[in-house]
Amino acid sequence: MVPAIPQTDPHAEYLACRADIEAAIRQVLERGRYILGEEVQAFEREFATYLGAQAAIGVASGTDALHLALRACGVGAGDEVITVAHTAVATIVAVEQSGATPVLVDVDAHTYTLAPELLTDALTARTKALVPVHLYGQPVDMAALLAFAREHKLLVIEDCAQAHGAACLVHGAWHKVGTLGDAAAFSFYPTKNLGALGDGGCVVTKRVDVAEQARLLREYGWRERYVSSQRGLNSRLDEIQAAVLRVKLRHLEGWNEDRRRLAARYEQALEGVAVMRPAQVSDRRHVFHQYVIRVAERDRVRAALSAAGVGTGLHYPVPVHRQPAYQALGVGAHLPVTEKICGEIMSLPMYAQLTDAGAERVAQQVRLAVQAAG
Ligand SMILES: Cc1ncc(COP(=O)(O)O)c(C=O)c1O
Repeated sequence: MVPAIPQTDPHAEYLACRADIEAAIRQVLERGRYILGEEVQAFEREFATYLGAQAAIGVASGTDALHLALRACGVGAGDEVITVAHTAVATIVAVEQSGATPVLVDVDAHTYTLAPELLTDALTARTKALVPVHLYGQPVDMAALLAFAREHKLLVIEDCAQAHGAACLVHGAWHKVGTLGDAAAFSFYPTKNLGALGDGGCVVTKRVDVAEQARLLREYGWRERYVSSQRGLNSRLDEIQAAVLRVKLRHLEGWNEDRRRLAARYEQALEGVAVMRPAQVSDRRHVFHQYVIRVAERDRVRAALSAAGVGTGLHYPVPVHRQPAYQALGVGAHLPVTEKICGEIMSLPMYAQLTDAGAERVAQQVRLAVQAAG
């Protein structure tokens, strides 16, 4: 009996650096400081350096990071923020928590990320910011998006929850995502390319004023302890998560390369199979948080894979504006690509510890399942 292959496997990642993680946690336990201490400070420095950003501010989740990044940039009630419906609902939750109204545009039919040519139609006098989502680890076309933002004096807050280490070529130089706009949000949910052993997130920015504001807002607006200079919230990263993240950050580049190698394996092994493989664009470095294919008869193919011991995921089965809580956001929105792809997409197993042989087996099972369904 061959073992099942899960779609994602954070436990395998933990096992890959178990001794270092356990030593780092032990050190925190022995030191006795558990919230916003030296591990958080060191992680913030190291993550900012890794990205090439000025500052990183550790917070409690990716959702909080996006909410705080928006607020720290001055986005709030009465503002409109343009983003996509083909994303985790967290993107929309964060925009609404900031007080602003999300305005949805469609995604590109090949990269599944925000289509910059559609921004003009969504622009109004109230538009304050753009939130490009680098979904699945695939960067948005940032050269086009930044040009639009500059022309219309809009803020850019990147949702990098799925794209640690992804990069784009802009004006002849490679930039990691998270360094291109006014601010960015990262998630450290355990399955992300850089994942904690619990929740965590980070605001990243090159702007000194935004960094200072995000630091204030993450802890009750305190400049001085117990005295709120503004209305903030409690969204702190804890020392144990920061210690774990420092260990894993050292592996991030290698793990991203593993993901890219596995994606290349899939790319080759799925040639000739009736599925649409992910787009690879020459001026963008995809880090394959997810390897997402499109396939007709998706649900039958998925069931066959499950029966063969291959786990798959749907990211995401229902676009945000079709979910009961958010239907009002769909009024007047024209999102044909978003609506079409949600019934066809399927995420194959993807994590750094997946073996080449495992990827070959997955591809072989996809080939058989697609043939049987067709
Ligand atoms: C695109 C996107 N944005 C935001 C988030 C929110 O991150 P978190 O789950 O850490 O709050 C996620 C993670 O689920 C995500 O995938």
